[in-house]
Amino acid sequence: MPDGMPDGMNVDYDGLIPNNVGLGADGRVRKALETWHPGYISWWRDMGPDGFQESLVYLRTAISVDPKGWAKFDFVRMPDYRWGVLLAPAVEGRTIPFGRHKGEPAWQEVPGEYRAMLRRLIVIQGDTEPASVEQQRHLGKTAPSLYDMRNLFQVNVEEGRHLWAMVYLLQKHFGREGREEADDLLRRRSGDADTPRMLGAFNEATPDWLSFFMFTYFTDRDGKMQLEALAQSGFDPLSRTCRFMLTEEAHHMFVGDSGVSRVIERTCRAMAEAGIADPHATEAVRRLGVIDLPTIQRKMNLHFSLTLDLFGNEISTNAANAFHAGIKGRYREDKLSDDHKLENDTYPVLRLKDGAIVEEQVPALSALNMRLRDDFVQDCASGVTRWNRVIQKSGIAFELRLPHVAFNRHIGEFAKLHTDISGRVVSDTEWESVKRETLPNEQDAAFINGLMQPEVRPGRFASWIAPPKAGIDNKPGEFEYVRIHA
Ligand SMILES: [Fe+2]
Ligand SMILES: [Fe+2]
Repeated sequence: MPDGMPDGMNVDYDGLIPNNVGLGADGRVRKALETWHPGYISWWRDMGPDGFQESLVYLRTAISVDPKGWAKFDFVRMPDYRWGVLLAPAVEGRTIPFGRHKGEPAWQEVPGEYRAMLRRLIVIQGDTEPASVEQQRHLGKTAPSLYDMRNLFQVNVEEGRHLWAMVYLLQKHFGREGREEADDLLRRRSGDADTPRMLGAFNEATPDWLSFFMFTYFTDRDGKMQLEALAQSGFDPLSRTCRFMLTEEAHHMFVGDSGVSRVIERTCRAMAEAGIADPHATEAVRRLGVIDLPTIQRKMNLHFSLTLDLFGNEISTNAANAFHAGIKGRYREDKLSDDHKLENDTYPVLRLKDGAIVEEQVPALSALNMRLRDDFVQDCASGVTRWNRVIQKSGIAFELRLPHVAFNRHIGEFAKLHTDISGRVVSDTEWESVKRETLPNEQDAAFINGLMQPEVRPGRFASWIAPPKAGIDNKPGEFEYVRIHA
């Protein structure tokens, strides 16, 4: 950062790594990041989008952290994307907003006693970023339009930047251990038997575009919840990093929200045109080249339940400790009105008691994962309401519904039992048929797979998805968002 530039707003674009953290004057960290850079580029080439690396993609790049105008759009080859380190502007006199240190000045350096805890949280967040790029790497080849292909690549490069964001914190604040963690973030691979990514949902396949839209709707939204909780952190560099990541993250959820909505819209329109009123007339609907609504529900059941597992155990001492320490807050902690310490509070949690699901009041500090998950479920519901409005408008009698939180779980209280999507406990034998009816089955996969034919003509869309309401950066419908053979 040139001398005299105010901390925060403007980004130094002259060096290898665009940044607003004064890397130009911080030789140690700059060198560490420059040493890490070639490994990152080779990871991107190996594990980033399969193909299209030489194509020109109409991408937005962060050039400022001013909320009123932080991005510029231009055609870029993905490996030339300017991945940078950007922190939201510092808040003058910021204090720790919760926990036992509430009211003390926010930390600019890692407090020694919380070093291990902070490092772990940063590494876990960091690991999810490249993981999703790996999960989505084959999707460019089956994009339903150039518009969608561009959105996929935009999400991918920004997840790459989020990895940079976490690696910067590790390099800047955690010494040799931080450098080792940064290297390991490039070493793990989504779905790898020996060196998998750290969290379950980030080792699952994203085999098709409906999965991609569900992933960006549900799983990127888990990212949003985690970032919101970390944006409250008393460790100020983490807070500022997460605050800026959230501005980018909003687009990822838009991609999921509008993507699912466009799939539904296309299905409903095709059904109306063919005079099909029964949403369960699967074969007749599929013959129209669109995805039947029950299949969309099954995909949703899968991605929602996989994502719930990311919130961890309902009762968690790690979560309690991180809050008590002032390291990880609640969703929008600063908007909540209580004592922000929670030492004497309780929170209702669904638990398993003698094979039944019952609500129980537990100490609020130990229920923080649960609380964040509840906030997540509520946040998810708004999109489902919007999707249902599209179905209602078409007059088809079908309603999408989020499954019960106990459905298809592998972590926490409900990992020990099976339920149907309404939360009714079922036997192991019954589960087999519940699974067939409510999770994507082999026929669904084969059908959707067959639909995944690329559409690369500007302004055209595959049979199973409606065009968007508006272009990116107000571009017209015919705009060539990706110049594939540039
Ligand atoms: Fe991200
Ligand atoms: Fe994201």
